[in-house]
This record gives sequence, structure tokens and C-alpha cells, in this order.
Amino acid sequence: MDAIHIRGGKALFGETKIQGSKNAVLPVMAAALMIKDVCIIENCPRISDVYHMQQLLTGIGCRVTHIGHTLTIDARNIFEDTMSGDNVTGMRSSITLLGAMLGRVGEVTMAYPGGCVIGERPIDLHLNALRRMGVVIYEKDGGFTARVKELEGAVIHLPVSSVGATENVLLAAVMAKGVTVIQNAAKEPEIITLCEFLRQSGAVIEGIGGSVLIIQGRHELHGTCFTVPADRIVAGTYLMSVLGTGGHIFLEDAPAEQMRSVLQIAEEIGGEIHISREGVDIIAGEHKRALPYVKTEVYPGFPTDMQSPLMSVLTTAEGISIIEETIFEDRFRILEQLKKMGAGIERKGKRQAVISGVDFLLGCEVTAQELRGGAALVIAGCMAFGETVVRNPCFIERGYEDICRDYRNLGADIYIG
Ligand code: UD1
Repeated sequence: MDAIHIRGGKALFGETKIQGSKNAVLPVMAAALMIKDVCIIENCPRISDVYHMQQLLTGIGCRVTHIGHTLTIDARNIFEDTMSGDNVTGMRSSITLLGAMLGRVGEVTMAYPGGCVIGERPIDLHLNALRRMGVVIYEKDGGFTARVKELEGAVIHLPVSSVGATENVLLAAVMAKGVTVIQNAAKEPEIITLCEFLRQSGAVIEGIGGSVLIIQGRHELHGTCFTVPADRIVAGTYLMSVLGTGGHIFLEDAPAEQMRSVLQIAEEIGGEIHISREGVDIIAGEHKRALPYVKTEVYPGFPTDMQSPLMSVLTTAEGISIIEETIFEDRFRILEQLKKMGAGIERKGKRQAVISGVDFLLGCEVTAQELRGGAALVIAGCMAFGETVVRNPCFIERGYEDICRDYRNLGADIYIG
């Protein structure tokens, strides 16, 4: 079985280019399904989550090609009458298609989504919001059918500013009759990207970037050519790595503007950051300072997706750090893996991890259990002395195009095999 092998314990030097954003491209792909035309999506990352979404779209009748980093989606002739959703069942990224399918066809059957094992990940907010737009939901074991004759605009207040729910309502709203107002909408950069794509395709959306989005539905949508922005989480992962190992790296295209909270944390740990039009340059400090308290928050706060990578770095910081996870309730799965490498981490209640910095980590065999936790184990492997073997790289491949290539660009001794 494949595993990532790392001979760690050396500083990283070099530069690498940051791929297109996973969380931005998936909803854009879903949106393309609603457009009876051809969309060209540039800078599309070659990752397994995108391949799954391609399969879903193909199963629904879209013609999809992915050449290099250019993805073309032709949704002119989808199987409108056979789209019961059998193709969708069981696919992890299916929830992203819910609003789009209702918008285009008015019916879909889905299994409850899987995805990363980082907590309950309910979809009640998605379903309740869509109900307000006239969608009727029939639940049956392990899944549900959602049906609507005509989507109607509505005022929707999201009790939690969920990224996925905001995206689904946005997509449905673009196809709905009348005006939809989303209150307490998520403000993550990926929402802005989706709005920009929709606007470029002819949709009318106001309030982009804020917590109230106003969508005038039923404007004619047309194909467009759109470029996916660079992945702020992938950039953050590599940035954390150099803080962990020491060294000096340049991340080409890293979206500094979207990474403010992460860059601030990097400076608190001791890193020196230089931002330019071309990307972000990071010089690790000589000493790694512990962080007395850091918590994950919705954007622009410190992202939950960066929590595990940060934890890896703090395992060898000088002093005691506390991380509080406020977004997902079960996102400390790497704790036991890091402990195997010699880290001093204890859980305090359900939401906090207390990290007592140790002098060094030692390589050993560890197992990735989800995407960002897996990447964090690669960071720990780069930091640790000796060889680290990270099992289950398939989790990492969901979101990182070629993590070994990128780390080799930064001078790491790493391969998959
Ligand atoms: C998205 C991102 C993920 C990121 C997360 C938070 C994608 C593909 N994934 O996930 O990488 O970690 O945003 O920034 O873009 N919740 C409910 N009911 C719902 C929906 C969500 O209670 O119906 C809760 C969740 O359990 C969680 C919180 O809301 O506690 C935020 O989740 P949400 O923003 O929806 O995350 P995702 O869209 O799943």
C-alpha cells in the first residue's frame, strides 16, 4: 500500500508554486452545472476531490475535459429526466451539488455526505434553508430526496455562517423566482470566488464579501472563462512547514490577502514574512515561540483547516501552547499520531489541546485519517529526525496536487511509494 516516506530533520529552502484552491473550485464546478453553456475553468487543481466532482458531472450528462490545469464543463445537454441522483449517491462531494441540481432540474436524491471525519458535519442548515425556498425533502435511510417545482426567493437567516450552506443557497437563489437575501452568510474567500464566477456568468448578486448577500434570481446565465485563485490552505501548510523545520522558502502565488490571520500567527511564532505581488517569502526564526492561546474561527479568523498544521509546528515550540477548536468538534485526531513521534500534547475537554513543546520529534509510522491532519503529519515528518512513513496518502491527495513534488521543491527528502 502507498505511503509517503520522509527523511526529516533538515531545514527547508527553495520555492514552490501554489496550486488552485480546492474549496473554491468545487462549488464553481457545481455552478457550471446550472449553466446551459460551456464554462472554462483555469488553474483547476489536479486533486482527487476535483476528479470525483468531474465524475459526478459526467454521470449527470455534462461533457467534462481536464487538460493540464484547464477544466472545461459543457452542461448544455444534461440527462434532465434520468437525474434521480443514483450517480450522486455515496459521493463525498455531492452536497455541493444540491443547490445546483435543484436549480437546474428541480429534483435530486442523495446519500448523506461523507467527507473528512472531523466531526458530525450535519447538513440541517442546508436543508432548512432550501425548504424556505419551496423545496420539499423526503428523508429515507441514509439519504434524502429533495424536490421543488419552482424555487422561490426568500429571506434566509443562517443560524451558523456555514460555508457549504451559504454556497448551496446562493446556487439555488440564482435560479429562483424573485429576490433571496442570505443573512449571516459565510464570508470565506471561497464564497467571494463563487459569487464572482456567478456574476461573470450573468447572475446578479449584491453584498459580495459581506455577511448579507442579495441575489436577484432568474437572470440568464451564460458560459464564461474563469481562473481559480491559489489555495490559501495549501500555502498555509507549506508556510507552517518552514516554521517547523527552520529555513527560508518562497511560495509563488500565495494569496497573502486571504492569509492574514495565518501570517500573523507565523510572525508570533517567530517567522519573518515578506509579501510581494509574486507571493509570500518566509524566513523561519531561530527560536519557535509557543502560543499561549489560539483559537480557530470563521474567516477572517484563524482557519480550522490550518489547526492541525499549526499543532505540528507547536510540538517543538519553546513553552506551552493552547489551541482551541471552535468550528468542528472532532478535529484533534492527529494528536495520538503526533504523540507517537514524541510530542507532548494533552486534550483539555472536547475543544482544547495543550501542547508542551519538546526538543525534537522522532520519525515513525503514522496514519493519516483526514485531509488536513494528513498534511500536518507530513509537516511533522519534515521536522522529525529519522524516517517518517505516513500511511493513507489518499486523504492528502484529496486536496494536494502533488505534496511530495512541492516539498522536494523546498528541499525535503520525500517520496511516495
Ligand atoms: C467548508 C470547507 C472546510 C472548512 C469549513 C470551515 C469546503 C469543501 N470545505 O466545510 O474545508 O473546514 O468550511 O471553514 O469548502 N454545520 C451545521 N449544520 C449544517 C452545516 C454546518 O451545524 O448544515 C456546522 C458544522 O458542523 C460546523 C460549522 O457549521 O461546526 C461550520 O461548517 P461549514 O462552514 O458548513 O463547513 P463546510 O462547508 O462543511
